[in-house]
Amino acid sequence: MENPNKKIIFSGIQPSGNLTLGNYLGALKNFSLLQDEYRCYYCVVDMHTLTVRQDPAALKERSYALLALYLACGIDPEKNVLFMQSHVPAHAELSWILGCYTYMGELNRMTQFKDKSKRHSDNINGGLYTYPVLMAADILLYQSDLVPIGQDQKQHLELARNVAERFNNIYGDTFKIPEPFIPKQGAKIMSLQEPDKKMSKSDTNANNFILINEERDIIMKKFKRAVTDSGNEIRFDEAEKPGISNLINIYSAVKGITREDTEREFAGLRYGDFKAAVGIAVADELAPIKEKYEEFLKNRDYLDRLLRQNAEIANGAASQTLRDVYEKVGFVQL
Ligand code: TRP
Repeated sequence: MENPNKKIIFSGIQPSGNLTLGNYLGALKNFSLLQDEYRCYYCVVDMHTLTVRQDPAALKERSYALLALYLACGIDPEKNVLFMQSHVPAHAELSWILGCYTYMGELNRMTQFKDKSKRHSDNINGGLYTYPVLMAADILLYQSDLVPIGQDQKQHLELARNVAERFNNIYGDTFKIPEPFIPKQGAKIMSLQEPDKKMSKSDTNANNFILINEERDIIMKKFKRAVTDSGNEIRFDEAEKPGISNLINIYSAVKGITREDTEREFAGLRYGDFKAAVGIAVADELAPIKEKYEEFLKNRDYLDRLLRQNAEIANGAASQTLRDVYEKVGFVQL
């Protein structure tokens, strides 16, 4: 029987593009380490992706791909709840309620909304505006204690906390107030060509990122091309040597060693040799994941079965919170 005292982690990832080495080293690689200590919900937030225009066939494909990738990274579907957001209607239902307790002034301040409105100026839709409310519903439905997020989502989590507190103040304790979760391990991986920017799947220059399912020779080529600096020392110094520092972070994260260990291992070597070694380490790390990923992805029946089971579990948990909310706001319960 599941230990009911385990803290709850909720993580949402959009199936809106390919995942990179940055996502892997920053999050996915470490997720499998959490599964015994925490109760983890991993949600493919397909509903959030509609805030920008999606090709339906591609969205479906990427949703399965994301699930396959979680599994390939060692996330055990028996120990974690892996599910699609759209399979749990309570997300949309709670989102409506929470929207009635969120001020337009709060939503107007969201920097991601402002950015995205600029980038998609032909499609500034209501969903883009209320996106953080749906995200709050995702988190609050499961009484989550902890939410792993990057810097760019901090403001959204803060909003979720504020709305939850507001609701609790009016109606009494209903929602757990979630905290950001910064994993003990987990590196911030920067772009290979512009190491002052985060590695991002939406970058237009493919040399900036490594995909999790990238071919070995492409990985080697991209690391060979990675920018370094005019010096020749393999030393960690983010201000002076951002490129080399990023490569040191990548190597250390892949090998599970400290930066100092990496510096020692490559002391006196040339940049070219170091870059080749990082390429090999990354390719070796990703090869078995790529293989498992492709195998899972082929097995649609298995994935569907798993989604069905996990949706049932998620629905069970979510409907308890939703029922409590409906009761508290005064909806007639049958
Ligand atoms: N907005 C998040 C992102 O783009 C995705 C997300 C949706 C999420 N719902 C969530 C993240 C709930 C954490 C918790 O990265």
